[in-house]
Amino acid sequence: MTQDELKALVARAALQHVVPGAWVGVGTGSTVNHFIDALAGMKAQIAGAVSSSVASTQRLRAHGILVREAHEVESLPVYIDGADEIDGQGCMIKGGGAALTREKIVADLAARFVCIVDASKRVEVLGRFPLPVEVIDLAVPQLQRRFAALGGRALLRAGVLTDNGHPILDVHGLQITDPLAMETEVNQWPGVVTVGLFARHRASLCLLGTAQGVQTVAY
Ligand code: 5RP
Repeated sequence: MTQDELKALVARAALQHVVPGAWVGVGTGSTVNHFIDALAGMKAQIAGAVSSSVASTQRLRAHGILVREAHEVESLPVYIDGADEIDGQGCMIKGGGAALTREKIVADLAARFVCIVDASKRVEVLGRFPLPVEVIDLAVPQLQRRFAALGGRALLRAGVLTDNGHPILDVHGLQITDPLAMETEVNQWPGVVTVGLFARHRASLCLLGTAQGVQTVAY
């Protein structure tokens, strides 16, 4: 199976975790695009979706799925999203699609985070995928120096602003052995909007797409 077929496989499997009658939190990215397309088949059974990006909102609406923004709901039973990397504890790197801030906001509303990934995203130690960090532009040089002190090379993502109008730093060369500690530390730095480490908001469940089928891992 191709990587895209594995993404479609786990996206369809995620439908089992959508709670009938409720709002479902929806992430962003190519795996989630498959999920949105599959969700269209059960749109009559859900209240609608809480979206994490302009792109996902547009795709959901194109399918006729009712969309709410994060500030319009108080809680969600489940949030479904992809990841750039996931480790053995369900901690993730996210933000490859630049939606990390809104993704974290919607994930924070949800009782459960169901992560849908193909097997290439499963790693022992986070950091091979450059860590995305949404930042305030004035702080970029100082944040680059701070990451350099940790052994990382923080490069401005060319030509990209998030849905919130901020630039992204992609930090190369980190070995993130303690994701919770690093998330907590980077969150303190002035000028950081959101670090793309999801350790506080780690996955509750991962649906991993492999050549043998969907593996379900609970944390
Ligand atoms: C977007 C994300 C995505 O979940 C992550 O980049 C994975 O994307 P894809 O499903 O396209 O591989 O965090 O900000």
